[in-house]
Amino acid sequence: MIEILSAGPDGIARAATLLRDGRLVAFGTETVYGLGADATNSAAVAAIFAAKGRPRFNPLICHYPVAAAAWEDTIPTALAHALAAAFWPGPLTMVLPRRAGSAVALLTGAGLETLAVRVPANRSARLLLAAANRPIAAPSANLSGQVSPASAAHVLAGLRDRLAAVVDTGPSEVGVESTVLDLSGATPVLLRPGGATLEALEAIAGPILRAGPPDDPLAPRSPGQLASHYAPALPVRLDATAALPDEALLAFGPPCPGAGTVFQLSERSDLAEAAARLFEGLRWLDSEGHRLGARAIAAMPIPPHGLGLAIDDRLRRAAAPRV
Ligand code: TXA
Ligand code: MG
Repeated sequence: MIEILSAGPDGIARAATLLRDGRLVAFGTETVYGLGADATNSAAVAAIFAAKGRPRFNPLICHYPVAAAAWEDTIPTALAHALAAAFWPGPLTMVLPRRAGSAVALLTGAGLETLAVRVPANRSARLLLAAANRPIAAPSANLSGQVSPASAAHVLAGLRDRLAAVVDTGPSEVGVESTVLDLSGATPVLLRPGGATLEALEAIAGPILRAGPPDDPLAPRSPGQLASHYAPALPVRLDATAALPDEALLAFGPPCPGAGTVFQLSERSDLAEAAARLFEGLRWLDSEGHRLGARAIAAMPIPPHGLGLAIDDRLRRAAAPRV
């Protein structure tokens, strides 16, 4: 049974406890309601994708109560500091280089070297983020493909059976998502228009480039940005039913014949566990597998349903011909 919590001290405390326990909690921000989970807990983040029914691992935004907390996970530029001073708390998300040693799960950022961070303006949301005392990943709290929710009632209509709780923080005034600005390159790039206007941003940042293909950070926009989009250095072979002698295996369930070096996504063939371990696995095979002599990664087939769709999508991108 989903808990419907008020935005008073008791409701906030309860919601923070649930988040710290790895549960899913929806809460209002000034833009839209977010489907929150502990961003440092990869199983909790996998549960976000499962609840939304997203067929792909889009990188998620990490939410913080204050800018200083966001800088613990990212490396801010001078411009990031200036934009934070002008727009936070508020509907601006900044994509910045991820700080080495950040506890944010690789799945939260879809394996990218960058992290999207924001400080929302809703007072109750910030109290909740402070009480949770860890970064909270939160995409909009709707089923994939449906409209973003601007009230607790909207959240319940789509996700009632899939969440531990929703905090009723009242209607979201802005109603559209935050503006996403990529500050990880030489020039700021607008990745998603949103609550903070381009004019207001350019008044501080100067000219901002528009991204090409909308809303898909995993699709390289220009060759210069390619390096930041993590793909294993080793070639990836899909749907392997046997491992070749020079291959390291990304296993799902009992390893197939021929396996030497193995990273096990889920011994018991559990898709949520596999999703939570996917990016760790690709990185481990790339470094350790390579060190142990592997010249390629063989990936066992993933069942094409539920989170398997998103895992498979990511593996296909990893296996695609390199530019
Ligand atoms: O208003 C909002 O931003 C809402 C509320 C709940 O805060 N959240 C939201 O999250 O819309 P989500 O996960 O639906 O949107 C994340 C956006 C996507 O467009 C994603 O591609 C982009 O941010 N994004 C996240 N991390 C990124 C990264 N490292 N590089 C490029 N784009 C990134
Ligand atoms: Mg959305």
